[in-house]
Amino acid sequence: MRDIVKIYPDGTIALRGVSLDIYPGEVLGLLGENGAGKTTLMKILSGFLRPTRGYIVLRGRRVVFRSAADALSHGIGMVHQHLALVPVFTGFENIVLGLRAKGDLRKLVEELMEETGLRVRLDVPVEQLSFGERQRIEILRMLLRRVDVLILDEPTTNLTPLETRVLFNALRKLRDSGKSIIFITHKLREVMEIADRIVVMRRGKVVGELPREKAEPRLLARLMVGREVFLRIEKPPSTPGKPVLKVIDLWVRSDIGGWAVRGVSFEVRAGEIFGIAGVEGNGQAELVQAITGLRRAEKGKVIFGDKDITNMSPSELYRLGIAHIPEDRQTMGLVLDMSVSENSILGMHRWRKFLGALGSLRWREINRHAERIIKEYDVVAPSIRSPVRYLSGGNQQKLLAGRELSKNPRLIVAAQPTRGLDVAATEYIRKLLVDLRTKGHAVLLVSADTDEVLQLSDRVAVMYNGRFTAITRPEELTEEKLGLLMGGMEAGTLGRD
Ligand SMILES: Nc1ncnc2c1ncn2[C@@H]1O[C@H](COP(=O)(O)OP(=O)(O)O)[C@@H](O)[C@H]1O
Ligand SMILES: [Mg+2]
Repeated sequence: MRDIVKIYPDGTIALRGVSLDIYPGEVLGLLGENGAGKTTLMKILSGFLRPTRGYIVLRGRRVVFRSAADALSHGIGMVHQHLALVPVFTGFENIVLGLRAKGDLRKLVEELMEETGLRVRLDVPVEQLSFGERQRIEILRMLLRRVDVLILDEPTTNLTPLETRVLFNALRKLRDSGKSIIFITHKLREVMEIADRIVVMRRGKVVGELPREKAEPRLLARLMVGREVFLRIEKPPSTPGKPVLKVIDLWVRSDIGGWAVRGVSFEVRAGEIFGIAGVEGNGQAELVQAITGLRRAEKGKVIFGDKDITNMSPSELYRLGIAHIPEDRQTMGLVLDMSVSENSILGMHRWRKFLGALGSLRWREINRHAERIIKEYDVVAPSIRSPVRYLSGGNQQKLLAGRELSKNPRLIVAAQPTRGLDVAATEYIRKLLVDLRTKGHAVLLVSADTDEVLQLSDRVAVMYNGRFTAITRPEELTEEKLGLLMGGMEAGTLGRD
């Protein structure tokens, strides 16, 4: 791949000129934090996306892939994070889907399972299979099509340790048979275990490349997280008061049934920002959902003030004084086709202030409320009657934050609050959170942006695989240490060289 640039239609620059060589008979570890551009780069290599600039040379020839099928016919296949199989078809049907029968396909598939150790139940509808089995089906599907470049995007995220071992053994066999394996991950331990060569990406660029023999978790962590100093936001001292939120040994399930949160405990005090850092997908989203009433907590307790609020509904939590700036503002926080006014009272429409006779809405009050938010939170909108769809991402987020904060909550749960925002809006939201904390509100901040967590938080937890690997003050965390913790290495192992 040569000088690959990718600018998405919304203007996001995902790749800023990346060149990458891939050799036969190796496992290449592609390492980087969220948003580094790993998936984008590999979607380009596998024909799912077209590069904005740059080109691909395959076995000495320049190629342009028109589709994923086109790349596959050139021997390049990618197994995505979100598997794409036909749920009602059996494993076998999915594996051979679209293949013209050449000989006994059933026998071929069985041989392939034998050779690689990637076994699946062939005659069961895929919807009844575990994530691991479905993933093995996708890999077998690629192998049956004789790919020589097999790309796996964060393949171990939903695997059990045993399944991971089976996968790694298969990958080694495939490598030894001459195939190129590209293994995308943010996990240091895994890349050290499986990769022959490691390429580190950060912010759309390759920032390091080394053979495994030269690689060392410390060095990889520093490359991954970056050397830049963390920009400091003005943060006046604050003396945290009493705990506002207490989470005690909380266990929450993921969508696929396993544990997403495995016994997490912490407290957030008045006048404090408690930040949760970590690469996405390590249980942060489920933890927030459990606290805000959007997902069941199976075990453990959530205490607000001195009230047990475990598994209360979102509307009850609202009333008690908990605000939520959700991760996915477009599906959770705002209704895009509704107006700025309507959105400004979502979740508050039963408030006495907004209710007239016979349950009608008092529009004058509502519009006044919307105008106030727009002014106070610097929201740029054509009018309070325009659908929220027409606002930029930053202005949508400011509106949402304004609405949530206008309830004068004691606790604010902010998940990825600045994702996708431009610099100015990002700064605005960050300042807002710091102001609230300084005024004595409790803030729980979850962010995959390490700079953000370190800058804003008074205390930081690092989440990995459903647990906290550390709770500490941001000053105690060097970028290297943080990178290690985020990659699942205990800080305690650092001292032993
Ligand atoms: N479809 C898309 N539209 C706009 N921006 C995108 C899209 N997909 C990814 N991005 C952005 O491109 C950057 C790189 O993302 P990605 O390739 O997914 O990184 P990684 O796989 O390393 O986490 C991020 O800033 C991400 O938000
Ligand atoms: Mg990715």
